[in-house]
Amino acid sequence: MILPVVAYGDPVLKKPAKPVEPGYPHLQEFIADMYETMHNASGVGLAAPQVGLSIRLFVVDSSSFEKEGSPGFRQVFINPEIKEEEGKEWIFNEGCLSIPGIREDIRRQPLIRIRFADENFVLHEKTYDGMQARIIQHEYDHIEGILFTDHISPLRKRLLKKKLLDISKGIVDVDYRMKFPLAKK
Ligand code: NI
Repeated sequence: MILPVVAYGDPVLKKPAKPVEPGYPHLQEFIADMYETMHNASGVGLAAPQVGLSIRLFVVDSSSFEKEGSPGFRQVFINPEIKEEEGKEWIFNEGCLSIPGIREDIRRQPLIRIRFADENFVLHEKTYDGMQARIIQHEYDHIEGILFTDHISPLRKRLLKKKLLDISKGIVDVDYRMKFPLAKK
């Protein structure tokens, strides 16, 4: 089932999310819905708060994003903890399904070590680099209540203010279902 994506300005996007307990009701169904919602919106990552559920879970599928020859990866991260971030920050022009039509250059470190549970609550600890690390860092931010617009300069943010407000109101061109916090009823 495709879920509506919560737009910029909804308080759920600013709230640190809660850990997921094993036995969480309908978890497998929810994960399937997350993948479906993300693919439908042509996204490479989606965090639970973006569909209005404040739990520490996100899905990633970068297959569409990887250059030819690179396999891409698909993974659900439950209760993830980034243990380490390393290397010289690099810039990438990031976007977000909750903030359609806006992309900004964001600096992040290139290498991460992360511990997480998969959909069966089996624990993993893995390292990721480059674009995979970038996607994970962006989604991880979501479960901490952080958006990429929180990483840009105050000046840049002032310049985007009107556009961000329009997104909250639903005045934006988007081809997937969204829920806008300031939409007129
Ligand atoms: Ni995002």
